[in-house]
Amino acid sequence: MTDVSTALISAAYIVAALLFILSLAGLSKHETARDGNVLGMIGMAIALVATLWLALRDAAWGNWVAIIVAMTIGASIGIWRARRVEMTGMPELIAMLHSFVGAAAVLVGINTYLADVGGGDAVHLVEIFLGVFIGAVTFTGSIVAFLKLSARISSKPLMLPARHWMNLAALVASTALLVWFVASHSIVPLLLMLAIALAFGWHLVASIGGGDMPVVVSMLNSYSGWAAAAAGFMLGNDLLIVTGALVGSSGAYLSYIMCKAMNRSFVSVIAGGFGSDGAVSNADVDYGEHRETSAAEVADLLTHSSSVVITPGYGMAVAQAQYPVAELTAKLRERGVDVRFGIHPVAGRLPGHMNVLLAEARVPYDIVLEMDEINPDLPDTDVVLVIGANDTVNPAAAEDPTSPIAGMPVLEVWKAREVVVFKRSMAAGYAGVQNPLFFRDNSAMLFGDAKERVEDIIKAL
Ligand code: TAP
Repeated sequence: MTDVSTALISAAYIVAALLFILSLAGLSKHETARDGNVLGMIGMAIALVATLWLALRDAAWGNWVAIIVAMTIGASIGIWRARRVEMTGMPELIAMLHSFVGAAAVLVGINTYLADVGGGDAVHLVEIFLGVFIGAVTFTGSIVAFLKLSARISSKPLMLPARHWMNLAALVASTALLVWFVASHSIVPLLLMLAIALAFGWHLVASIGGGDMPVVVSMLNSYSGWAAAAAGFMLGNDLLIVTGALVGSSGAYLSYIMCKAMNRSFVSVIAGGFGSDGAVSNADVDYGEHRETSAAEVADLLTHSSSVVITPGYGMAVAQAQYPVAELTAKLRERGVDVRFGIHPVAGRLPGHMNVLLAEARVPYDIVLEMDEINPDLPDTDVVLVIGANDTVNPAAAEDPTSPIAGMPVLEVWKAREVVVFKRSMAAGYAGVQNPLFFRDNSAMLFGDAKERVEDIIKAL
């Protein structure tokens, strides 16, 4: 009986792992993303049932009850949070969830050590040590990311003197503690490393500036995967190892793609803002006067245009303006205007943020283009509507080598004939950098909530 159930559990694990791989493949394209999610959910349901069966088949009833009560409480909190969270709050929720994976890896590591009293052979001890290290870095790093993304602390980089030396010292000390741990089997080096790793994770993310936060979020995603894989090694659970490795490697690849898109060095960002000189915003520079416009004027401008590009940003998500934006798009297309969207890879606050919002509002996929696809067409575009975007359309990135976002490729909207910027004030974007676009001769500001202003334009049309 036990052999049959072991074989069934192994088969369930293989099916779940395959579903996770198919899920990742599905998530790589708009059209298949929804199906990818469904496959991932089915895989996780199979994995959960099989793991529960594995853990409990020989266990006492008391254990069954304890686990089911814990799962019910956890699932209730999860469902409650997921139902309440706004789309704009997703990144910080994700950061918070990553911190749980880190904490779990730390607890599993310490528990494995204590359960084995002394931890067994050298390989097992190294697994425990690495699991606790990665888990602790993920835990505090994710908490700092959560605090920064939810604006509970400043998104400015923390620039401690000799910060890179401190990071290096933490790594060297941890390596020495690993040697001590394997040689002595004592808990002291494990706990000392835990304290260092907690501080190291906190410092790594604290020293990264607002503009680089997208890479940090995906990097922490990757770390949480490696932490889960390490927990899988400690628990001897093959599926956890496979799943952790999938999350770890896909997160690392996503970070790499983002670094390339933002013209940042991958190593510099993961090493805690290495190479950043702590440049400050250009708030004091006098760019001249800005010009204000009205919804009626913009409606008139659009009526006399043949090509329009919409570049949405975080403000569209805050205002939930995607529905009126989709309606405006449909109205203009009915009138024969060529309307397309230009999406910056880090627009919003999480990878694919704008694509998700536009898909939700049923904007056709074929008019939603990537930054590299739309940029060459912008000089021949009549009007660009910048809806709640700021850093991602900032010409300073391309033109001012002293800017904190210098070198980051941006949507070159200023090259269009007319630009209308929808935002509520002249405030800077997430990276805290003033935007010279607002003061250009061909730019006009349409102040107010993006959703209300787009609705006003639809009425005026
Ligand atoms: P941001 O630079 O964040 O600017 C958004 C603008 O939207 C703000 O200047 C704000 O101006 C405006 N806004 C806010 N609420 C609004 C509303 N209700 N109606 C109209 N406008 C509103 O946007 P972005 O261009 O999308 O750039 C994203 C930034 O976030 C980048 O710096 C990126 O590095 C960072 N980031 C991205 C990610 C990912 S993975 N995408 C993750 C973390 C951080 P007002 O206050 O004046 O209205």
